[in-house]
Amino acid sequence: MAPTLASNTCFLFFVYFLCETVFTEEIQLGSSISPTDPTTSWPSPSGRFAFGFYEQGDGFKVGIWLSDGINKTIVWTANRNDPPVSAKSRLNLTRNGELLLQTGPEKNKVIADGNNGTVFYAAMLDSGNFVLQNETLGFLWQSFDYPTDTLLGGQILLGGSELVSTSSDTNQSSGRFQLSMQVDGNLVLYPRYSDARTWWDAYWASDSDRGTSSKYYLFLNNTNPQPLCIVNASSSNSQILWRVDNSSFEGNNIIYRVTIDSDGVLRLYAHFDDANREHQVKELWSPTELNNQCNVKSFCGLNSYCTFYDNQPSCSCLPGTDFIDPSQRNLGCKRNFSEAECKGGKDNATFYRMIPMPSMNMGDPYVEEYNLLEEECLSSCLQDCYCGAVFYEDNRCRKQKLPLRYVTRVTQGSSSYTLYFKVGVQSLKSNTVIDNQPPPIKTTSKKAIVQIIVVIFGFASLLCSAVTISTRFIYKIRVLSYKRLLEIGDLGLNEGVVTLRLFSYNELKKATDGFKQEVGKGSFGSVYKGTLHKGSILIAVKRLQKLAEEGEKEFQAEMQAIGKTNHKNLVRLLGYCAEGSKRLLVYEYMSSGSLEKLIFGDSTIRPDWDQRRRIALEIARGLLYLHEECGAPIIHCDIKPQNILMDEFWTAKISDFGLAKLLMPDQTRTFTQVRGTRGYLAPEWNKNTPISVKADVYSYGILLLEIAFCRRNLVVNSSNPEQIVLCNWVYKCFVQRELNKLVLGEEVDLTLLENMVKVGIWCIQDEPFLRPSMKSVVLMLEGVSEVAIPPCPSSNSM
Ligand SMILES: *[C@@H]1O[C@H](CO)[C@@H](O)[C@H](O)[C@H]1NC(C)=O
Ligand SMILES: *[C@@H]1O[C@H](CO)[C@@H](O)[C@H](O)[C@H]1NC(C)=O
Ligand SMILES: *[C@@H]1O[C@H](CO)[C@@H](O)[C@H](O)[C@H]1NC(C)=O
Ligand SMILES: *[C@@H]1O[C@H](CO)[C@@H](O)[C@H](O)[C@H]1NC(C)=O
Ligand SMILES: *[C@@H]1O[C@H](CO)[C@@H](O)[C@H](O)[C@H]1NC(C)=O
Ligand SMILES: *[C@@H]1O[C@H](CO)[C@@H](O)[C@H](O)[C@H]1NC(C)=O
Ligand SMILES: *[C@@H]1O[C@H](CO)[C@@H](O)[C@H](O)[C@H]1NC(C)=O
Ligand SMILES: *[C@@H]1O[C@H](CO)[C@@H](O)[C@H](O)[C@H]1NC(C)=O
Ligand SMILES: *[C@@H]1O[C@H](CO)[C@@H](O)[C@H](O)[C@H]1NC(C)=O
Ligand SMILES: *[C@@H]1O[C@H](CO)[C@@H](O)[C@H](O)[C@H]1NC(C)=O
Repeated sequence: MAPTLASNTCFLFFVYFLCETVFTEEIQLGSSISPTDPTTSWPSPSGRFAFGFYEQGDGFKVGIWLSDGINKTIVWTANRNDPPVSAKSRLNLTRNGELLLQTGPEKNKVIADGNNGTVFYAAMLDSGNFVLQNETLGFLWQSFDYPTDTLLGGQILLGGSELVSTSSDTNQSSGRFQLSMQVDGNLVLYPRYSDARTWWDAYWASDSDRGTSSKYYLFLNNTNPQPLCIVNASSSNSQILWRVDNSSFEGNNIIYRVTIDSDGVLRLYAHFDDANREHQVKELWSPTELNNQCNVKSFCGLNSYCTFYDNQPSCSCLPGTDFIDPSQRNLGCKRNFSEAECKGGKDNATFYRMIPMPSMNMGDPYVEEYNLLEEECLSSCLQDCYCGAVFYEDNRCRKQKLPLRYVTRVTQGSSSYTLYFKVGVQSLKSNTVIDNQPPPIKTTSKKAIVQIIVVIFGFASLLCSAVTISTRFIYKIRVLSYKRLLEIGDLGLNEGVVTLRLFSYNELKKATDGFKQEVGKGSFGSVYKGTLHKGSILIAVKRLQKLAEEGEKEFQAEMQAIGKTNHKNLVRLLGYCAEGSKRLLVYEYMSSGSLEKLIFGDSTIRPDWDQRRRIALEIARGLLYLHEECGAPIIHCDIKPQNILMDEFWTAKISDFGLAKLLMPDQTRTFTQVRGTRGYLAPEWNKNTPISVKADVYSYGILLLEIAFCRRNLVVNSSNPEQIVLCNWVYKCFVQRELNKLVLGEEVDLTLLENMVKVGIWCIQDEPFLRPSMKSVVLMLEGVSEVAIPPCPSSNSM
């Protein structure tokens, strides 16, 4: 840290001397640099680190690097996913203490500011931390708070945050892997291309999960001989939960660095000076199981498999597929023929053939069928148009859907599988069978051990996954199958982005058999059941009525916005039709109907307490996504049980989001609302105040209480007047600590119930600003954050 000026004249000379050396460290307000200036960066006093412009592609990015005189190791990048800027750009530390990246006249991007404190100067410190400091040298902003793919000695990674790999060694944009410091204390490596963060997706973990009652962080000590550790932040004496063993190291001027590299492997490095004072780098540690990089899940992309041969991983395409980009073999493969349409059934089995590939380790499970002979298993796949491959072993027939993930080839061990891959016969005529014969596998005993571990790991994951295959996963498969059928030829390799299909009115009329079977009615019009592709896909077609006057362009813009949403707790929009004044939306069909039917219907089908908690959390996550995670926030405006749909696995999905904008301005306010009681609508709807996402939070609060007690908020013919309005009754019972009165002969966990009730009451506060955000709601329901005692929701009479 820089010294403060001493007033004592005795020290003047000394101070002068210090100022000389310190001067290079302080970056005065008003300074600026540019790629075309003589100095393009601000170095740290030792010269090892610098902050400024570095080259990427044909432009420049702003970041911090560690230099050994020849090579630069980038350790931090500002706005890493922005495109590189031109040489005309300028970094400007303005007089009022903002660090701006100026890419043109009036084009400023704030890279750092003092968070309302008064910035005195900026500094590039010898630790690799770039800081804005106030007059007492406190840090108002520091790059250490915003790690990208690297931690440096002295830096921490808080529980709940992550490092994301770079996309390649020369491109610092976010890549395909991430290191998560989880709130439960576990440090986990995941592939990033899927939204799944399940145990199944993880490819390495520190196994230091200790529950969420304490807080944890990952720390890279810059002095300790075993520097990388996970620390219990709740403990006063820095209790260590996990640390990297035998990374002890001797050297001069050591700088430790831990990075999740672009190949997905976490590595601890030491940069040091050797006896000749030459700068050196040494890798001190990486997880041993990742010495075989095929263990990095999704090292090879979709529809390809990984072979570890001669200490090198290599990716090969599955039969009938070609590399998406032959120059980047780890991006995965796509089918090189297009299926005209899904042909299922016995008659159609001859259109396909199964190609065996021995010694494979599986990707994701799809459907397991037991007690089948091998031939039965194969013909079952041939006849199932969703089946792209099967693994067969011990009477278990595991059918897989395309695209396949996480497939590896192993040595001839007893626990590997034969993968049968389904390809179209027609494509086989024009193409020879498999071109990428994997290299032969030589076995050494050491490799064998690694591979046995891989196999055991795979097998254990298999057992576990049988139990924990999440409904999310099945959802994904189904979404992919929809995608696959809607975008013929494209097998949905770009997960997450689906182009909406434009339907013609006649097509939808045919699909719904002339709008014959109405399955629902909402504020926007009616919903009809329909089928596509000769009955193989069920759809729900919504015919919008009472729309605000709106041109086709606006409508299409809205549709594209909805189409971009992709979350497992939202009903998926598949396409739409806009012809003349006709507006129709095509959604995936939800076979279990609405939540209303489930919680207020016949008590025999009622979800049990655990399921209700899960459903409540799923809805909260869906809303959180709409509010905070999908670009422009989407306010739903009409959260109620009728608008929560359930799929066949009882996963809750929010429907009708994004439509509020399309409705007549006053239409959203006309829902039956009994005067003086609480419906789903937030009080601000009746006032002249602007509507925010907090209106949805209110509706969610009502819904949450309804789910908790499986009772409508309003039961007019209740014998006891106190019990007419559920939320009033609940609040009363809550205050009197008598919530058990509300639970009728059911097994519930009263602490959890009380927690849920508290969250519900917070959500239905009359004052929007008192209501929590959906993010806090999720954290509270998950038990990650504490729930305070809520005040009375209404300022007047309850
Ligand atoms: C860097 O990677 C990102 C994401 O993978 C990509 O969009 C971008 O084009 C790449 N930039 C360069 C210069 O290759
Ligand atoms: C610089 O990088 C090149 C290529 O990665 C490497 O061969 C060379 O040894 C590095 N130089 C130093 C001084 O580390
Ligand atoms: C830095 O930004 C300030 C405010 O935008 C501007 O007045 C000043 O001219 C800029 N300095 C340089 C060197 O461009
Ligand atoms: C900075 O000040 C603005 C306006 O006064 C305020 O909204 C914001 O919360 C403050 N930020 C911090 C970090 O204190
Ligand atoms: C300087 O910043 C530190 C840390 O943010 C803070 O504690 C201190 O009060 C600040 N000093 C002044 C004079 O603002
Ligand atoms: C970091 O290393 C120093 C010196 O070895 C040690 O005193 C300190 O406890 C370490 N910190 C943690 C959190 O382990
Ligand atoms: C973390 O430290 C706190 C305070 O010492 C302690 O109560 C808690 O049990 C610790 N957590 C773990 C997982 O050891
Ligand atoms: C690390 O520790 C293991 C077991 O304690 C030991 O077998 C191995 O040789 C050590 N490796 C190094 C590089 O010291
Ligand atoms: C399709 O892939 C197969 C096997 O991967 C290959 O033999 C064939 O040449 C490819 N066909 C086309 C049209 O690219
Ligand atoms: C075979 O596929 C065609 C076209 O998709 C379909 O009409 C027919 O019903 C299928 N055969 C059987 C037995 O399912």
